[in-house]
Amino acid sequence: MNVVIHASEEAVTQCAYGFVRDRMNRRHYRVLGLPTGSTPLRLYRALVEGYRRGEVDFAEVQTFNLDEYLGLPPDHPQSYRHFMQTNLFSHVNIRPSHVHFLSGLPHDIEDECEAYERAIKERGGLKLQILGIGRDGHIGFNEPTSSLASRTREKTLTRQTIEDNRRFFEKDEEVPRWALTMGVGTIMEAREILLLATGRAKADAVAAMIEGPVTAMCTASALQMHPRVTVMIDDAAAAKLNHDDYYRWMSENDCQMAGYLEACKQRQAARGQTAKAP
Ligand code: GLP
Repeated sequence: MNVVIHASEEAVTQCAYGFVRDRMNRRHYRVLGLPTGSTPLRLYRALVEGYRRGEVDFAEVQTFNLDEYLGLPPDHPQSYRHFMQTNLFSHVNIRPSHVHFLSGLPHDIEDECEAYERAIKERGGLKLQILGIGRDGHIGFNEPTSSLASRTREKTLTRQTIEDNRRFFEKDEEVPRWALTMGVGTIMEAREILLLATGRAKADAVAAMIEGPVTAMCTASALQMHPRVTVMIDDAAAAKLNHDDYYRWMSENDCQMAGYLEACKQRQAARGQTAKAP
């Protein structure tokens, strides 16, 4: 796990934008898994601005969203479909047929979930999966006790998640209690994963994910078993980490590694020349 800590939410956003832009500009990276929630909002804004500047192009990009509330139609203002349309898709040149979503009103839940898994596979699998994290450590809507091998399916939300989502709805009874979500196993098959977390409210979940045991009680901890995960967080979300000094030290040194290696090669070459000289 590559843990990158920044001083502010804005710095996390800029770093995440550079990361995603880099992947989107590689031909084989154009199947993206996308999250909703307040955390990725700034990234989506940065992507829209990047698109307007001509730095990113969505023409060949396919997207699969992580989850959707059960019971909400696509045009419901609180549906995740509507969220993505408003905050990203309507501002960029993505083709409507390249946007993939779980239906909030499926004819048959099992068929819907199986078809989603098939659609991901048919497009060669998720190349970059972007994630946020819930306060209880969930990814997608994989609440505590979700199998770490789970596939796309329906899930009952915890009271805490329902409470966290309460702010978006006018009345208590409107907050959905169920959702369809990619499983932890589905997410783990992505080639690369970028998880974003900001703010003090995420500090416990972030610490459990990075430094806690791998456990279904914090489904994000499964990411410890994935070979290519980058976690980008701000100081507030990093507040409960025991080894944050090491993560900061690692980031500083990682960016110096290429320069160091180049200098070593140059020294080696210079030695070789001296040795050859009569
Ligand atoms: C919901 C979503 C998750 C998201 C989480 C945190 O549970 N299903 O994908 O990561 O909310 O949202 P926020 O970024 O608003 O804290």
